[in-house]
Amino acid sequence: SRLMSFLREMPKAELHIHIEGSLEPELIFALAERNGMRLVYPDVQTLKAGYAFKDLQSFLDIYYAGASVLRTAQDFEDMAWAYFLRAKADGVVRTELFFDPQTHTSRGVPLKACFAGLREACRRARTKLGISADLILCFLRHLSEEDAMSTLDDALAFRNDFIGIGLDSSEKGNPPEKFARVYARCRELGLRLVAHAGEEGPADYIESALDVLKVERIDHGVQSIHSPALMLRLSQTKIPLTVCPLSNVKLCVFRDLADHPLAQMLDAGLCVTINSDDPAYFGGYLLDNYVQTFRALNLGMEHAYQLARNSLLASFASDSDKQHWI
Ligand code: HPA
Ligand code: ZN
Repeated sequence: SRLMSFLREMPKAELHIHIEGSLEPELIFALAERNGMRLVYPDVQTLKAGYAFKDLQSFLDIYYAGASVLRTAQDFEDMAWAYFLRAKADGVVRTELFFDPQTHTSRGVPLKACFAGLREACRRARTKLGISADLILCFLRHLSEEDAMSTLDDALAFRNDFIGIGLDSSEKGNPPEKFARVYARCRELGLRLVAHAGEEGPADYIESALDVLKVERIDHGVQSIHSPALMLRLSQTKIPLTVCPLSNVKLCVFRDLADHPLAQMLDAGLCVTINSDDPAYFGGYLLDNYVQTFRALNLGMEHAYQLARNSLLASFASDSDKQHWI
C-alpha cells in the first residue's frame, strides 16, 4: 500500500540499536567456527529456540552469550556491515550505533579491535551506502561506576571514534545516580549523553537520568506513561524518547503491540521515535518495527511523517545534514 511504501522510503534515523543485538544466529555460528570456538548450543535451531524471553534479564543472558563469539576487528566489522545493509533496505539515512565495550574487554578482547572494526564499517556505510553513522559507547549498569570510569579512560585513546555515551543492561536496582560522576566527566569532555531509562525501571529513573545525568535523549522511556507530571515535562521540553515497540513486547513490558502506548505518547506531544533495539533477537529490523506498530495501532501518514521527522531531529547529526533530510 501507499502507507507501507512511504514507511520504507521516507528518510529516517535509527537511534536505538545495540550493534551486538544485530548479530543473527547464522553469523554467531559462522564467527564461532572462524574463531575455533564451541558454543553450548549445537545448532542455529537450538539457539533460536532459546529466544523466548520473560523479561530484560532473561534476554541479556542470551545476548551476552551470543556476543561472546566476537573476537577480532573483522568480526565487529562484519557484524556492523550486515546491519548497515539491512538499514539501507529500510530507508535509514542516519544511525547511531550503541556498543558495549565492557562485554568484550572482560573476555580479553582489546578495545582496539572493537573500535577498529566498527569504525571501518561506519566508514564503508558512509562511502558505499550513503548512510551517516556514528558510535555511542554504552556502559553496563550492572557493573560498578569505577569499571565504567576505567573503560572511559581506555576509550579516550579512541576519542574521535565515538560521539557519545549511553547506559544499558539490567535496569532495576541500577538507578542513574550510580553513574553520576562518569556522566559529569563525559559532559566535560564534550560527549553526547543518552541513557536507557524507564524500560522496566520506574518513571523516577527517567527523571533522574534527566536531572542527575543530564542526558539529551531517553532510551525507551515508556514507563513515563505512569507519571502525568513527567509526561507534561517531556511534552514541554521535547526530550526525545527512543522507543522500541517489538523489543517491549518480546521482553514482556507490554502484552502485545495493540497495548503499546506509543500512539498515546505521540498524541500527548512527546518526541517519540521508533527503533529496533536488538533486531536479531526481537524479530524485526527498523521497518518491521514501523510496519507492525502502524498495523497494530492503526496509525496513518501523519504519524509516519511525524515519527521520521522526530528521528532526524533527535539525531546527533549536523544541522546541515538534518536540513538536507527533512
Ligand atoms: N535494555 C537494556 N540493555 C540492553 C538492551 C535493552 O533493551 N539491549 C541490549 N542491552
Ligand atoms: Zn536498548
